[in-house]
Order: sequence, then structure tokens, then C-alpha cells
Amino acid sequence: MCGIIAYTGFRRAAPILLDGLRMLEYRGYDSSGVYIAGDGVYRALGPVDNLVQKIPVDVQGTAGIGHTRWATHGQPSEQNAHPHHDQQGGLWVVHNGIIENYAELRAELVAEGHTFISETDTEVLAHLIGMRYEETGDLATGLVRALERVRGTYGIAVMADDLPDTILTARMGSPIAIGVKDGEYFVASDAAPLIRHTQQILYLEEGEYAVITSEGYDVFSFTHERQHRSPELLDLPLDVVEKGGHPHFMLKEIMEVPDVLENSARGRLLLKEGSAKLGGLEDQVPFLRTVDRVVIVGCGSAYYAGLVGKLLIEDLAGIPVTVELGSEYRHRPHRVVGTTALVVVSQSGETADSLACVREAKRMGVKTIGIVNVVGSSIARETDMGVYNHAGPELGVASTKAYVSQLEALMLFALFLGRLRGLSVAQGAGLVCELMRLPEKVRDILAHRDKIQHIAEEYLGYDDFLFIGRSYNFGTAYEGALKLKEVAYVHAEGYGAGEMKHGPIAMIDEIFPTVAIMPSDSMYEKMRSNVEEIRARKGRVLAIATEGNTEILALADDVLYIPDTKEALTPILATIPLQLFAYYTGVLRGFNVDRPRNLAKSVTVE
Ligand code: AGP
Repeated sequence: MCGIIAYTGFRRAAPILLDGLRMLEYRGYDSSGVYIAGDGVYRALGPVDNLVQKIPVDVQGTAGIGHTRWATHGQPSEQNAHPHHDQQGGLWVVHNGIIENYAELRAELVAEGHTFISETDTEVLAHLIGMRYEETGDLATGLVRALERVRGTYGIAVMADDLPDTILTARMGSPIAIGVKDGEYFVASDAAPLIRHTQQILYLEEGEYAVITSEGYDVFSFTHERQHRSPELLDLPLDVVEKGGHPHFMLKEIMEVPDVLENSARGRLLLKEGSAKLGGLEDQVPFLRTVDRVVIVGCGSAYYAGLVGKLLIEDLAGIPVTVELGSEYRHRPHRVVGTTALVVVSQSGETADSLACVREAKRMGVKTIGIVNVVGSSIARETDMGVYNHAGPELGVASTKAYVSQLEALMLFALFLGRLRGLSVAQGAGLVCELMRLPEKVRDILAHRDKIQHIAEEYLGYDDFLFIGRSYNFGTAYEGALKLKEVAYVHAEGYGAGEMKHGPIAMIDEIFPTVAIMPSDSMYEKMRSNVEEIRARKGRVLAIATEGNTEILALADDVLYIPDTKEALTPILATIPLQLFAYYTGVLRGFNVDRPRNLAKSVTVE
């Protein structure tokens, strides 16, 4: 997720673009840049303040485009920072989204003599638009012709040196907001940077583009039919706009999960082959075929994702897996047996204990694989290979969309490995099919979040919780408990349900409720017995169950339903109501769920 901004009007563009980029930094912050008509392009690594230092104070241009980046293709660097230009150097593009087929387009252009400066998919788009503009002599026609070749998502703004007050913007899969004021027009990825200038906002629809000059704007479909679109008054406070209309980043990020699942899987699901396309592993296949042991390392939620990843890899690829806490594993002597691969799961890619495990493994000659969200982070750079989550920046301290994208990335990894080691096409295709259906199933759960809020209100008086699950949802139980601890400060224990009789059941009474994760899978009957034993001791039970299971209503005190899915994918669905349960409980208790006390987003110290 990146932030784009554009302006054309009668005021100096530079300060407007830079302020707008500061407002968009929550969408991405590893590098930024601007193109000012009649002046030129400026780029900087790091936060927008670094860019401000590079722009002369007297830049006079009254039109321009800007971008703040969250790297998806190509490390964070000045070279990869937007805007990118075409082969001739006279056309400029800023882009939010992912061009799936950028590699084949780039190869075609190179074959035609194009040379590229960056590693990004966006630069390929700039070359394509520039080439079509040159062929047709019309920027709008050239833009649409170029976009016809593109697969993926984009929200873009385009300018050409020879049209100094004209901005073209187009949308497919990534939002574009247009701000309208007398003699001034603004474009941005969302309304946050616009509402300080104007509350008159219109949003492009999918497959629309707009031609904007200081005289006015026109909106067209990709078949060039004019669309009569008027701005609407957006009467929202700035901080609510930044959070996509939600009161907290945590809720905004939970609501983003369907898009994240789609983005994490974009271009990676191979239905015919029943496999996953993972660019970061393609040239490591000979090594991956020889791996006979996997160690997964992580901390906090990343460790719990590893507990799920263990079963995915063992079930799909038949390789034994151990899961280790980074803080423990880094201090232990490592007895390397056979061909071991160390998989490190980390959203930030900077967690000190996890990073230490990467370095220790490399000292032992063990190959390392990163499952990381932040492109160019230390773990991403120091591991031998990896799979990026593509979850976009996660600003809430609690891991929500990132945790779900870790589960999906581990599923893709297990699928990739499995298809190298005997998993059948049919088995693989069945999982790929279900992965394609997951975003809609998560949307179903999110559509019933008011029920979850009501349940949170019902359970507000309890100060201790037990979360239990088995097999694939053993990790889910621990993750659900962690969410409640970290955003609502409520004592909650995750436990394997099979362990109840070995101690925890002694705690059960009227004031000690249990959250039982019990989808209709191979473990359901055993979970059912656990719940009966708990109820027999007056324990209150909140069940996470599969839609259509009506018998559970007589068994549990309260039920939150999730859609049916394959057993291996139930953690992805089951974790959503648990994240929302923790979120609403924290809000109801009056806490800042985005910035919980004592916690930091990334534990870069030991
Ligand atoms: C999860 O909600 C927490 N924010 C925390 O446990 C986190 O998962 C852990 O610190 C690991 O962070 P990482 O994924 O960035 O390595």
C-alpha cells in the first residue's frame, strides 16, 4: 500500500505535495519523491522529511505528482522511489498497487531496446504509457492502450513534460480520490491529504480515468465514454479519514484482511498446477528438494503463526517441523542434522531475537527463509530466500492483518514445497481453489461484527479467560489469548484442549469462561467433549463454530460462526472473530487499542 498525491492549480505545487505526502506516510514510508512540472524530479530514501531537505525552496511549478512508498517490488532505495519515467524521460508516473505481469512486460520492452533504472513494476508501467503516448500523440489514448496490457492493481497519476498543467489519473483495484476546489484540483490515494484543502471529493470507480487541468476535470471509462461524476461533501474529521472511516487503525486493518488475502495471493496461485508461484524461492528448488528438516522461528504472534505453519508443512510436504521461540532458540547449541532449513516469521523483519536466530543459523551453515512483511528489512535482507507477505503497513501495534497474511504465506510456502515432494495436483488445486474463496468468507465474518461486539459486551465482566483449540487451531488459541492480553489487558491463556485434564480444568468455574475454537473438522468431536466437561463444571463457553452447526447452540453458552472451509485453512477464518473480540473488549474497557501500554510495534531490543 503506497500513497500518491497530485495537484494542478494556481498555487506552488511543492508545499502542497509535500504536506500531502506527510499525511499519507501511514500508507508507506520507506522512500518518497515528487515531480514538479517545469522543474524536475526529487527523490529520497526514508521519511518524507528527507525529501523536503532536497527540494529548493523557490520551486515555482504549479502542478506536480508525489508518492510515498511501501516497497513491494525492489528494495527501499532512492533509485526505486517514485515517480518513475519512461524511456524518453518526459513522462512521469506514481503508482499504488501491484503489476502482476510486470516481468513479462519488462522483458518485451527490453527486447525493444528499453533500459530500466529501477527494480520496480511501476517503471515498466511508465515505459509502456510513454511508448503508447508517443505512438498515438494523445496522452489519454496512450494511457488506456498501455493499461490494456496490464494485469494487477493500480491507482496512478501521470504527467508529461509537454503538458505541464495536465494530470491523468486512473483506477483499477487501488483507490483514487479527486479533490475539487475553485481553479485547483487534487488527486490522492485517499481523502486524508485533500480535506485540509477541500471537502468536495469524488472517487474514481474501477476502470475509470480522469483528465485534470487547472481549468477543470473530466472522467471517462476505459472505453473513453464520458462519465458525469460530481464531487460529494465529505464531512469527516481528519483522523477518521486517515483510518478509512474507522475509529482505530486496528479495526481498519482487520477490515483490510480480505484485500490483504487477495494481495498476498495475487499472481501466486496456480490453479492448473495446483501450486504457488513464489518468485523468492524459484531458483532455490534444488535445495528445497533436499530439505529433510524445517525449524520455524518467531516471536509473539509470529511464533503462533509458526505453530500453524508446522502442520501445513508436515501435512502438505511431509517434512518434520519444529517451532521455536526466537528468544529461546538463539541461546541454544544447534545440532544441525541432515539438511535443515530455518524459516523465520516476522512482520517487521527487525525483531532482535528472530534476527539473532538468522545470524546463528548462517554461522552453522543452515539456509534461512524469511516470511516477512517489510520489504528490505534486516531479516528480509539477511535470509537466503523468502516470501513477502504483501500485507501493507500495519500501524496498529497488535498484529491482525499481518498475522493472517503470515498464515497465508506459510500456506503458499507449504503448497510450493508439497508440490515439489509428492503432493498431488488435485490436492494442491483443492487448496488453491479454497484460498481464492477465503477473502469472500472473511467478508462474511466481518459483516457480522456487530454480533461480535455484542458478545464482547456480554463478557466484559470477566477478568480471566481460557482459549482452547486443537491441531490447526492449537496456535489459534494462543493467538486469540494474546490479542485479548495485549489490547484489553485481560489475563487470557491459550491452551491445547487435550491438556484440560492435565491441570487447567481445575480453574473452571462460573467466573472463568472458555473460548473454544471448534470448527467442524477432524477435532470437533474431541472439542465437543472438552466443552461438555467445562459446562459440567459451570464454566461459560463461547464457541467459534462452523456455520450450519446447530447442535453447538445447545452445548455452548454463546456461538460465533465462521464459514466452512478446509481444515488447514480454518485458522485464517477462526482468528478474525478473536481479533474483533479483543478489539471490542479493549475499546469497551476504554483503552487505546492502537497503542497499548508497555508495547512497541517491533521489539528491536532483547
Ligand atoms: C502481536 O500482536 C504483537 N505485536 C507481537 O507479538 C509481535 O507479533 C511480535 O513482537 C513479533 O513481531 P514481528 O512479527 O515483527 O517479528
